[in-house]
Amino acid sequence: MSPTITNVLDLRALAKRRVPRAFFEYADHGSYDEFTLRDNRLALEAIRLRQRVMVDVDKRNLATTILGQPVALPLALAPTGLTGLQWGNGEVLAARAAAAAGIPFCLSTMSICSIEQVRAAVNTPFWFQLYVMRDRGFTRALIERAAAAGCSALMLTVDLQIQGQRHREIKNGLTVPPRLSLRNFFDIASKPAWAWRVLRAQSRSFGNLRGQVAGSDSVMTLAQWIAKQFDPTLSWRDLDWIRELWPGKLILKGILDSEDAAIAAKAGVDAIVVSNHGGRQLDGAPATISALPRVVDAVAGRSEVLFDGGILGGQSLLKALALGARAGLIGKAFLYGLGALGEAGVARVIEIIGKELDVSLALTGQTDVQRVTRDILLDRGATPFAP
Ligand code: GLV
Repeated sequence: MSPTITNVLDLRALAKRRVPRAFFEYADHGSYDEFTLRDNRLALEAIRLRQRVMVDVDKRNLATTILGQPVALPLALAPTGLTGLQWGNGEVLAARAAAAAGIPFCLSTMSICSIEQVRAAVNTPFWFQLYVMRDRGFTRALIERAAAAGCSALMLTVDLQIQGQRHREIKNGLTVPPRLSLRNFFDIASKPAWAWRVLRAQSRSFGNLRGQVAGSDSVMTLAQWIAKQFDPTLSWRDLDWIRELWPGKLILKGILDSEDAAIAAKAGVDAIVVSNHGGRQLDGAPATISALPRVVDAVAGRSEVLFDGGILGGQSLLKALALGARAGLIGKAFLYGLGALGEAGVARVIEIIGKELDVSLALTGQTDVQRVTRDILLDRGATPFAP
């Protein structure tokens, strides 16, 4: 019997038991000493909400828009690599859970199910996240495939052209497709339900890259693979090229500095995601919630500002909205739900965060997520972590 699930960390505990260590830890950890991973959460926790009373909060609204698209909650599922190795067909299941909950799902370049497989299984348009590869012909082909699949936004990730080291990936010998080394044999053998689902899934390797990128079919560590394929020359100049290929909504993910935010807004991107890649890249970078206010000021309303990093509950999401984010993205949180219970687990995570947001909104004397401001934060959100 599973314990009663009341919050996202309960799902994390269940996922830890059900998903082989290499894949659970891939999702759960960050780079180097994980200072930034921890700061993302600590800085969110350090912000205090103002409890307000004797306000009629009977009717509340959580709905808003992201890039003009109506959403039931100011929340989206972040692009995450290897999602189909948390649970077989994980990308399809997460996309379905997001669609059912009325929020966007963003498919990663590094997904296991391909763009076309997700498109065939889900009716609602999804977003596609792009890493620019050294092979620009292939990068162009990815953009064209996203357009052909009717993706409603392209999310260009700009903070991972060189990979920060995640010690766990190396210690666990993380490879794609999974390799049954002696090291992980017993771990996988002790999780037969996981193995059965992954073996029957549509894909076990990088679905978008199969047969297209040299080396994408061979077993090698993720870090080796990224170092070989990702283009470290990526610069602001490339934005024009991407704009020509993708006339639709464009989101830049991985902005943390106000100068970069100003450049992105001036370049006319539709949205930016304030992100340090979930503490998986520059260890020592500030917590995203500490960076958010200055980024919002620098953007000055020219682009929408989305937020990720450390959201495990509705209270954190509310704090990000108060500091100027239009919506939050969850990566680890939804992967915990997926690894624990598949599609139902992702649905549960979205439901939990939505309910926590709703209750916290009311208890701060507010009724509409679109009207939340810094005024709901004690000392207007000043935290001991703000640089
Ligand atoms: C890839 O996006 C990763 O963070 O591993």
